Amino acid sequence: VGHIDDVQELRKAKQSNVPQRFVRDMAERPELATTVTHPSDIPVIDLSNLVKGGKARFQAEILKLTAACEEWGFFQVINHGIDVEVLSDIEKMAMEFFMLPLEEKQKYPMAPGTVQGYGQAFVFSEDQKLDWCNMFALGLEPHYMRNLSLWPKNPPTFSESIENYSREIRKLCKSLMSFIAVSLGLNKDVFEDMFGVAVQAVRMNYYPACPRPDLVMGLSPHSDGSALTVLQQGKGSSVGLQILKNNTWVPVQPIPNALVINIGDTIEVLTNGRYKSVEHRAVTNKEKDRLSIVTFYAPSYDIELGPMPELMDEKNPTKFRRYNHGEYSKHYVTNKLQGKKTLEFAK
Ligand code: SIN
Ligand code: FE2
Repeated sequence: VGHIDDVQELRKAKQSNVPQRFVRDMAERPELATTVTHPSDIPVIDLSNLVKGGKARFQAEILKLTAACEEWGFFQVINHGIDVEVLSDIEKMAMEFFMLPLEEKQKYPMAPGTVQGYGQAFVFSEDQKLDWCNMFALGLEPHYMRNLSLWPKNPPTFSESIENYSREIRKLCKSLMSFIAVSLGLNKDVFEDMFGVAVQAVRMNYYPACPRPDLVMGLSPHSDGSALTVLQQGKGSSVGLQILKNNTWVPVQPIPNALVINIGDTIEVLTNGRYKSVEHRAVTNKEKDRLSIVTFYAPSYDIELGPMPELMDEKNPTKFRRYNHGEYSKHYVTNKLQGKKTLEFAK
């Protein structure tokens, strides 16, 4: 991606049109007018009820969690215990980074088929349409995934913010995975025991305002390859995340300081389809830009996985095969984002 395809540079040029490379075919346009625009009913989980709520509150919140994972695959978590400063700090750093001159950001180029560094991921051919989004992504855990040459030196405290942020988010992921286990009637440590040293990566998505939001996609529809994804929507950002529910795109209205959680393909496989990895996308806005900071949490790459025997019976026979999670991840990052297509790997 040179000057010509960098959406922030295009935005700076203040043209009223978008280049052909971004213009979607009719069937792929976001049809913004037909999406639900009232505040969505995406479930809200109060983590304090699970962490220190007492038995009755715990049970009630676990039931809400079960319903959220079965019916939505998405929920927002409040009272998650992460300091507001940690969340606002990473946003500030991310914005400072995206506002650097292109030349500076391009010192950390994203290589094709990887999701680390600055650029556009999931682009594999000249005629593939591009998303109206700039990304900056890093592998965090296990430590061997860290490519330190891609860790930005500017802003100077960015790396430190990323470390602080990811430490907190990792704790949250671990505790959410334990509550998800309980919500399935399983021992709270099953996933922790199964995952090994869990893989963690962060991706920051910056969507500049776009002169033609009706023609472009901020981020193509996809499901996540992770077990769990934690998504932070920037303060003051436009509303852009939408999830597919009953064939309708439902916007996720940000709740201040809440985090959006979604179930990834890995949990769909492990639960034999009981918990859904739901398709989602991001759309752009004519006046406002948008920032999202996304953490992917997944099993160690050497783990073999498939539907858990505890969650299958005669009425619920296996829907997925067993596979190696590293191979699945490789498959995921070397294909374009296209609905739930990557999950076919597991069939
Ligand atoms: C994502 O699905 O990774 C990001 C969507 C968003 O920007 O909200
Ligand atoms: Fe996603």
